[in-house]
Amino acid sequence: MDTNLPQSPLWDSLRSEQKYLQTNSLLRHRYCLDSAQGTHVSRQSQSFLSFCSNDYLGLANHPALIDSVGALAKQWGVGSGASHLVCGHSQEHEALEQDLATFVGMPRALFFSNGYMANLGVISALVGRTDAVFSDRLNHASINDACVLSRAQCKRYRHNDMSQLAFLLANTRARRRLIVSDAVFSMDGDQAHMTQLLALADEFDAWLFVDDAHGFGVLGDKGQGILEPAQRTHPRLIYMATLGKAAGVFGAFVAARAELIELLMQRARTYIYTTALPSLLAGVVRESLQRIEKGTALRQQLQANIGQFKRGMASLLSCSTRVDQPYAWYLLPSETAIQPLVIGDNETTLHVADALSQRGILVPAIRPPTVPQGKARLRVSFSAAHGAADVERLLEALGSIQGQSH
Ligand SMILES: Cc1ncc(COP(=O)(O)O)c(C=O)c1O
Repeated sequence: MDTNLPQSPLWDSLRSEQKYLQTNSLLRHRYCLDSAQGTHVSRQSQSFLSFCSNDYLGLANHPALIDSVGALAKQWGVGSGASHLVCGHSQEHEALEQDLATFVGMPRALFFSNGYMANLGVISALVGRTDAVFSDRLNHASINDACVLSRAQCKRYRHNDMSQLAFLLANTRARRRLIVSDAVFSMDGDQAHMTQLLALADEFDAWLFVDDAHGFGVLGDKGQGILEPAQRTHPRLIYMATLGKAAGVFGAFVAARAELIELLMQRARTYIYTTALPSLLAGVVRESLQRIEKGTALRQQLQANIGQFKRGMASLLSCSTRVDQPYAWYLLPSETAIQPLVIGDNETTLHVADALSQRGILVPAIRPPTVPQGKARLRVSFSAAHGAADVERLLEALGSIQGQSH
């Protein structure tokens, strides 16, 4: 931090905040890549094997998607010029929304700039002061922020605790009720209980808003995400997925009944008051959707990587879930591409991430407030573009670091 900042209580408060972050190993850094995104990236001309990205299918740098950009830019230019409701909405956006709705098997879809804005827009459009949101404690930060923005009462239930959710729903007098859950929890990798959530939405006349940022493209036989075919037409369901993770591009969409999407177009401020994403990006997402649909082999490779890692870690830790020993390393029980290895305290977690990077491997150290105090972790994320040798290299490195720390 700049040491020449003027002396005053205002600047002192900033300095002490920075100092707090530093002393508690909570400072975050960003590293500048000098390569495209991928399982092998380069930083300051040094090559690393990366387990950091949400590019689960390896599409972010796919030649077919890259090739599509030139023609799309020629047709649509690079900027959209205005918001969707002014004059920024093109046939490419329109076609993407139709493709997305068809792909997830829901009546209509609305294309947003990103997942954060979709969450802010949908939640604050649907509920207000006289209403209540029921939100899983481990939901993404954007959902928590959306609840605050909406001014609705926010009731957070224990992670995946359907009995507590039922209790809270039974004891509310709110005009409108909105249940909100991540589909795949972004820092734990486990999944929401969709059948029970939908049943509770029915029982208590609520909407269910599901954020499938980490399931879309990965779960389901064609990558349609967490929803089972029969759930996709559930009238109370509002589905959101992002397009910057498995889809490898950028953006997000919300799918639901047509009348709900119509209302979002009228009320979702993060849809109305922002410049539309360039049409060329919408076109690249359409190309990506085709890859996702035909991506069975990619999803199989991803599953193989996850399985190899889980088996390797189970033998490394001798038991894969040691939740009873808070400061021993343990792997959270996740079946998805997000494999969290809980280390415990912030400093040790940073130390392990650093030791991996010295071995040429990048894995992010996730610390509070993103995860609870004492549950700092390495968030290992897999891609279909990883191979068995990559997973083996990670396991060996973790084994040698663990051996040294005991
Ligand atoms: C569960 C979840 N929802 C929403 C978002 C935000 O999506 P986006 O990156 O498109 O803004 C993220 C991103 O990390 C996420 O993990």
